[in-house]
Amino acid sequence: MSASPATDVFDTSHYASGLRSRLRRSFELGAKYYLYDVPRYFWMRKKMQLPVLDWKAYWNPVRSFRNETYLQLPLPPHYEEALELLFHAGVRIGNPRSRTEALTGLWWEARTAPGDVIECGAYQGATSLLLAVLGRLNGLSQRVLMLDTFAGMPEPSRFDLARRPGEFAPPTGWTEIIAQQAEELGVASRVEIHKGLFTETFDKIAPREPRFSFAHIDANIFEGTRDACEFVLPRITQGGAVVFDDYNGLLDLGARLAIDASLRGQGQTPSPLAECSAFLRR
Ligand SMILES: C[S@@+](CC[C@H](N)C(=O)[O-])C[C@H]1O[C@@H](n2cnc3c(N)ncnc32)[C@H](O)[C@@H]1O
Repeated sequence: MSASPATDVFDTSHYASGLRSRLRRSFELGAKYYLYDVPRYFWMRKKMQLPVLDWKAYWNPVRSFRNETYLQLPLPPHYEEALELLFHAGVRIGNPRSRTEALTGLWWEARTAPGDVIECGAYQGATSLLLAVLGRLNGLSQRVLMLDTFAGMPEPSRFDLARRPGEFAPPTGWTEIIAQQAEELGVASRVEIHKGLFTETFDKIAPREPRFSFAHIDANIFEGTRDACEFVLPRITQGGAVVFDDYNGLLDLGARLAIDASLRGQGQTPSPLAECSAFLRR
């Protein structure tokens, strides 16, 4: 039975939400993760001249199973209202509620930093639309840039041990659906939909010298994550924040490698945010 629009907007059909499905997922993925993925990941860290033994990676299956929020922040005003508006506009949020709420709380914390919001890996647009609606309801002036192929994951590299090309392919014509939803939500003038590889979009937007108060880097694979980090991290303003959705993910050691390589020598490592996500503050 339906609980409420603010609950039903979270689409729990494709991720492990209940205890039983989380246990099953841990057993299914755990053995390959420990016996194959992690040793290869260590070897790749060596090749990339990163400290080899990243022991914290061993904790990822536990994080995935426990689904804990590590940084508790207040949610922005109008949060429930925004979820209801999204629900009625046909938007469904694919990321788990814990990760979405932790991200939203951090976005709110960073709201006074100058600049726009960028999501590298927007998929069906739900997270970007949520932030755009909250921006409107709270009178913020920032825009939300949504970047994706909107045609599925590009070819993974040799660093990506558990991802396949074409994953996360939305139905054809999805950018038009997002544009319609943005119109219905009253945020059409607040969002920019950039279809294509991140690097193509970066070339296009670089001349206007963008600055970001908040970034969501959620590409799951090495190359997209590396490209997003290279472009976005130096453009985060003082007081801003970055969420790496998959830093502690079971299937996303390629993304973790890219993030660690991008932050090398900067004296900063991402801190756990919720379940598999992590964050940095500037
Ligand atoms: C897990 S999905 C993003 C989910 C989304 N952030 C959300 O909150 O619902 C990852 C996305 O990254 C995109 N992606 C990965 N590498 C990319 C690249 N180099 N250029 C464009 N999109 C990329 C994929 O197409 C995919 O849609």
